[in-house]
Amino acid sequence: MLRSGSAVLGTRSFRVVFLLVTSLTLACFAAWIYTKEIPIQEAARKVFQSLWPSHSKDYDTPKSLRHPIDDLIETANEDFQRLILKQTSNITEAANAYRRRRGRHPPPRFDVWFEFAQSKNAVIIEDLFDRIYDDLTPFWAIAPSKIRNAGASWPEVISIRNRALTVQKDKRYRIELWHDMLKRIAKYLPDVDLAFNTMDESRLFVPSETIDSYVVEALNMREASQRLDSLARNVVMDYPLLPAYTRPFHENSFGSDTSIWSLTRRSCSVNTPARNADIITDLASYPSFDVASPSHGYHGFVANWTTAKSACHNPHLQGLHGSFIEPVSLSASTELIPLFGGSKLSVNNDILVPAPRYWENQERFSGGTDWYVWNRKKNGAFWRGIASGGRHREDTWRRFQRHRFVSMCNHTQVQAAMYARSRKPSIDTLSSAQDFADPRNFPLADERPRIDGNPGDMNSSLRLPYWIESHVQASFTDLLCFPETNNPASCPYTDSFFSVKPEIKMDHMYAHKLLPDIDGNSFSGRYRALLLSGSLPIKATIYDEWHDSRLIPWFHFVPMDNVFGDLWDLLRYFLGEEGVHEAHDEEARRIAEQGRDWAKKVLRKHDMVIYLFRVVLEYARLCSDDRESMGYVDDLLQSAG
Ligand SMILES: *[C@@H]1O[C@H](CO)[C@@H](O)[C@H](O)[C@H]1NC(C)=O
Ligand SMILES: *[C@@H]1O[C@H](CO)[C@@H](O)[C@H](O)[C@H]1NC(C)=O
Ligand SMILES: *[C@@H]1O[C@H](CO)[C@@H](O)[C@H](O)[C@H]1NC(C)=O
Repeated sequence: MLRSGSAVLGTRSFRVVFLLVTSLTLACFAAWIYTKEIPIQEAARKVFQSLWPSHSKDYDTPKSLRHPIDDLIETANEDFQRLILKQTSNITEAANAYRRRRGRHPPPRFDVWFEFAQSKNAVIIEDLFDRIYDDLTPFWAIAPSKIRNAGASWPEVISIRNRALTVQKDKRYRIELWHDMLKRIAKYLPDVDLAFNTMDESRLFVPSETIDSYVVEALNMREASQRLDSLARNVVMDYPLLPAYTRPFHENSFGSDTSIWSLTRRSCSVNTPARNADIITDLASYPSFDVASPSHGYHGFVANWTTAKSACHNPHLQGLHGSFIEPVSLSASTELIPLFGGSKLSVNNDILVPAPRYWENQERFSGGTDWYVWNRKKNGAFWRGIASGGRHREDTWRRFQRHRFVSMCNHTQVQAAMYARSRKPSIDTLSSAQDFADPRNFPLADERPRIDGNPGDMNSSLRLPYWIESHVQASFTDLLCFPETNNPASCPYTDSFFSVKPEIKMDHMYAHKLLPDIDGNSFSGRYRALLLSGSLPIKATIYDEWHDSRLIPWFHFVPMDNVFGDLWDLLRYFLGEEGVHEAHDEEARRIAEQGRDWAKKVLRKHDMVIYLFRVVLEYARLCSDDRESMGYVDDLLQSAG
C-alpha cells in the first residue's frame, strides 16, 4: 500500500513539474510569436483577399462568413437530388435508361438481371453502374477470342459452364469469397471464364496512349453498331456456349522489375501533371509539403473527388503515399488483359468487382453495428489501426500516409513541429543530415491559408495542439517495422514518435462522431462498415472501388486530400473551435445519416451480387464473337408488336 501510495505521489509531483515546464516553454513561444504577429497578420490578410475577393469585407467579422464547406455540401445535395430522380421501376424504363447512357442495347438477359435486382428491392439507377463501363470500354478494341484466351489462362479462374461454377487453382481463400458471391446467381449466368487477382495490389498499367487508342476504337465500333441495329430484329439475343474449360498456354508478362511510379506515370494521360513532373529519386530525403493548394480544391477542400484520388493529378503522391514509395508486393503488366479485382489505382485497367473483404464478416473490417445514436457519440475524431501503407523503413517512414495521419493527430508532435518551424523558417535550406533531427512528417497549418474566416490567426494556431488533444485520438496497434522486430509494439526508428495501443473492436470506434479512414497497403476494408456505422467517415484514398459511382462526396461521406493539409480544418469545421466558430454538428449528423441510410440501400450484400451479375453479363458479351450484334431488345419487339 505504502509503495503504491508513494508511486502516486511521485507521479503527481512529476506532473506538477512537467506542467510548469510546459507552460513556461509555451509562454516563451507565445511571446516570440507575439513579436512577429503584425507581419504575419498582414500576410494572411493578403492571402485571404486573393482567395476570396468578394468576402474580403468580412475579414474583420469572420463569424459571419459562409464557410466553403457549406457550399460543397449544398452542391452535393443538389447532385444527389438529381441522381435519385433517375430511378427506374420497370424493365422498359431501365432498358431505355441503359440505351441513353451507354449508347447500345443492354446485354442479353438484361431482363433476368432486372428481375433479380427488383426481387432484392434494389435501387435501380443506371448511373450507379458507371464504374463498370469505365472499366470495360477499352476491351471492345480487343478481339473476343483474345479476351477469352487471356482470361482463361490466368492461374486463378472461376469458370461457368452450363450454369455450374468451377474454381481453378484455388490456392488463395479470396477467390472462394468471389465464388460464394457468384453462387447466388450461377443459374442465370452465361458460359464464361473469370480471372481474379487475389493480391492486395492492382496489376495492370497499360500506357495511356494505348488505352486512349482502344477507347477511340471502342467508340467508333459503338457508332457503327448503332447504325447496324436500327432493326431490332437482327439482334442476337443470347450468349454462345463455350467449350469445356482447358487452360491454354499463355506467356506470363507480369514482373516487378520496375518502379510502380514509373508504371503509374506512363499510364497517366499525357496532359496530366504527373507526366511532366520530376521523378523523386531520393526517397530518403525530407518530404516536401509544398502542395498547399491542390488543383481539385475549393478554398483548400476537396471539390473534385476523382482528381483528388488521382496520382496523375497529384504527382507529389509519388513521395507521400506508401503505395508508390514501396508497395509490399508488385507484379504488374502493361498489357490489357481481363483481370477482376477488388480495388485499383485510377490509372489501372483491372476490372472492379466488390472486394472479398466486404463480403466476408471479419470482425476486424466489418464488426459491430451502430449501437450509438448520434447524440450519445463522443464529440471527437477517432482512428486506430496498424502502421501499414506499404513497406516503410528507417529513411522513408516520414513519407507514409498512416504515419503522417497519426502524427497530425498527436498534439505533442504538432506542438514540437510548430516550435521547430518557428526556429527554422525555411525547410528548403536544410541538408538531409539535419532533416532527421526534425521530427516533422506533415504539413503545418500555416503552410496553407486558414480556411474558416480567420487565416493566420496565431491564437488559433497556437491553440491547435490543445484543440487536438481534446478532440482527436489516433494511434497504431502494430508498428510493422522493417526489418521486422519480435515485438509489434516496438520499431527502433519510430518508437519515439508513436506509442502502441491495443486493438479495439469496430463498434467501439463507432462511439465517436468522426471516423477518418486512411489507405493501408491498398484500399481500407473498413470503409463500408464505417459508412454503415452512423458516424461520419472522413475519407482519403488513392484507390478506386466498385461502389465509386454510388457515393457522393459531401453527401454520403466527407472527402479528404491525401496529404491531409485539410485535416485540421475539416475536423474543426465539424467539431467547432471555441472563439472561432460553433460546431457544425447538424451538418455532420446529416451526412453521417445520409451515408448510412444510402449504404443500407445500395451497398448491401445483395447490391454486390447485383453489380457482379451486371459485370458478368457485360463481360460475357465482350468475349462473344457476335458481341456487336448482341443485345436485349425484347422490350422493343413487344412494343413494336
Ligand atoms: C414503366 O414506368 C413508367 C414510369 O413509371 C410508366 O410510365 C410506364 O407505363 C411503365 N411501363 C410499363 C410497361 O409498365
Ligand atoms: C473533375 O476533374 C476531371 C479532370 O480534370 C474532370 O474531367 C471532371 O469533369 C471533374 N469533375 C467535376 C465533377 O467537376
Ligand atoms: C505522440 O507523440 C509523442 C512524441 O513523439 C510520442 O511519445 C507518443 O507516443 C505519441 N502518441 C501516440 C498515441 O502515438
